[in-house]
Amino acid sequence: MKILGLSFGKKNANCDILTKEALYGAREAYPDAEIKFINTQRLNIGRCIGCGACSTALEKGKDNNCIIKDDFQMLENEVRAADAIIVAAPVYVLQPVGQFKDFVDRFSCRHDVSAINWVLDKRRSGEMPGNPDEFPQERLKRRTVSYISVGGASTENWTSMGTASLHLFGFPAMMQVVANYNAYSMGTVANPYLDDELIERMHEIGKRTAAAFEMNSEDVEFYAPQGTGTCPVCHQNLLTVNGTTTVECPICGIEGKIAINGDKLEVTFSEEQQARARGTFKGLREHTTEIQGFGAICAPKIMANKELLDEKMDRIKNFEKYIEA
Ligand SMILES: Cc1cc2nc3c(=O)[nH]c(=O)nc-3n(C[C@H](O)[C@H](O)[C@H](O)COP(=O)(O)O)c2cc1C
Repeated sequence: MKILGLSFGKKNANCDILTKEALYGAREAYPDAEIKFINTQRLNIGRCIGCGACSTALEKGKDNNCIIKDDFQMLENEVRAADAIIVAAPVYVLQPVGQFKDFVDRFSCRHDVSAINWVLDKRRSGEMPGNPDEFPQERLKRRTVSYISVGGASTENWTSMGTASLHLFGFPAMMQVVANYNAYSMGTVANPYLDDELIERMHEIGKRTAAAFEMNSEDVEFYAPQGTGTCPVCHQNLLTVNGTTTVECPICGIEGKIAINGDKLEVTFSEEQQARARGTFKGLREHTTEIQGFGAICAPKIMANKELLDEKMDRIKNFEKYIEA
C-alpha cells in the first residue's frame, strides 16, 4: 500500500507535524506500507488558465495531461500513485491556503470519474477516437483520504471554510473520505506536541485512512472525534439557505429539509439526495450531462446573435478606446 502525506503548510510547522504524526500512525498499523511525505510550500504550482487543452486532448483520444509545465505534474503523479492520502492545509483568511486551490483546480477536472468514463464509453462505442484500454487506469483507481485543516485563531469561526474546502481535493476523483479534522486554535496550543489528544487523533486518522483502503467502501466508518456534522455525506456544518425549509449542502450539492424542534434545528437529507451527492458517480454524472448540453443550447444563440455579439465584444477587446470616448 502506498500512503502519501501532503502538507501545504510551512516546513516543520503545524501542518507538517500533524501530517507526519498521522503517517506515524499509519506506519504502526502497516509496517510494510510505502510511506511518502511532501511539503508543497516551495513547489511552483501555477493556476489553471482554463485553456481546456486537457479536455480537448481527451476527446481526441489522447491522455489528458496538463500542458503547463511546473511542479504540478510531479505532485499529481504522487497523488495518482497513492492509495491512502492525508492532506493538511493551513487556513489563510478563512479557507485553505491558495496553493491548495491551485492544485485542486488543475487536478479535479482531469480526474472527474464521470467525465473520464463518459469519454471512455464514447471511445468504446467508436463515437470518439482513442483506445479506452490505453487510458492510464490510475486516473480511476480507488483511494482513501483524510483532511486536516490547521488554523491559528481560537475562535472556530475564523476557520469556518477550512475543512469544508479541503473536501474539494478528492470528490471529483471519488476518493473515500475517512476523516476530517479542524485543528484550530494553534495560536493557543503553541505546538501540537503540547496537546496529547490531538497527536493521538492524528495517529488514529493515519491508521484509519490506511485501513479503509483495504476495506470494502461500505464497511468504512467515518471517523468523527469532533462530531458527525450536519450533512450525512461530507459531515460539514455549512448550509445554503433560500428562505424556504429546503436547504442545500454547498459541498455535496444535495437538498435537505429543515425543521425546528424546541431549540434544535433538525436537517434531514433523504437517501435519494444522499445518493446524488457531488462526490458520487451519480452526482458527478449530473454535472457531466449538464456540461455536455451547453453546446446545443449556446451554439444556436450565438449564431442568431452573431452581429450583436461581435459589436459588443469590440467594446471588451478595445476597452481603453471606448472607456475614454
Ligand atoms: C496570511 C495568513 C492568513 C491567516 N488566516 C487565518 C485565518 O483566517 N484563520 C485562522 O484561524 N488562522 C489564520 N492564519 C494562521 C495559520 O492558519 C496558522 O498559523 C497555521 O498554523 C499555519 O500553518 P503551518 O503552521 O503549518 O504553516 C493565517 C496565517 C497567515 C499567514
